[in-house]
Amino acid sequence: MIRTVLAVAALALGVTVATAQDPIAARKAIMKENGAQAKNGAAMSKGDVPFDLAKAKAIFAGYAAAAEKMPTLYPDNSKTGGETSAAPAVWTDKAGFAAGFAKFAKESKEAEAAVTDLASFKTQFSNVAKNCSGCHETFRVKS
Ligand code: HEC
Repeated sequence: MIRTVLAVAALALGVTVATAQDPIAARKAIMKENGAQAKNGAAMSKGDVPFDLAKAKAIFAGYAAAAEKMPTLYPDNSKTGGETSAAPAVWTDKAGFAAGFAKFAKESKEAEAAVTDLASFKTQFSNVAKNCSGCHETFRVKS
């Protein structure tokens, strides 16, 4: 039990240190996780995997958590390097970028609360997904 607690604490510390030292790696990892969640959601939407309310809510909760962490990971010294695909607009339009994440967080939380079944999940999931492409168009360089 104590060993588990220590392992979890060490892990949490490791993540914090990684975030502070390498914001590019940290933000890419968060976005990759968004991508993985989006894939799960698409499979559930299409009926490739059975609808599961807890998993559906977890997708939106994951998005909201990601949206809250992201804006702090773009310090001025991280415009290039680390294979970042962040566009210059992230720094020339900081307010717009932050607003994009605020909207993404808000809509993800609303979706988490609103989903009750497959039909409502499909609606919420496709609505929230508009945030992804909407933001990437302006703030991410196409690769
Ligand atoms: C408000 C802006 C914003 C929103 C909303 C957003 N993204 Fe991103 N995304 C970015 C930016 C900026 C990058 C570039 C990351 C970097 O290299 O700094 C990115 C990168 C990515 C990447 C590539 C990660 C890598 O390996 O480098 C994936 C995958 C991704 N986003 C998926 C998603 C999905 C799926 C959603 C919606 C559920 C989403 N994003 C919502 C801004 C956003």
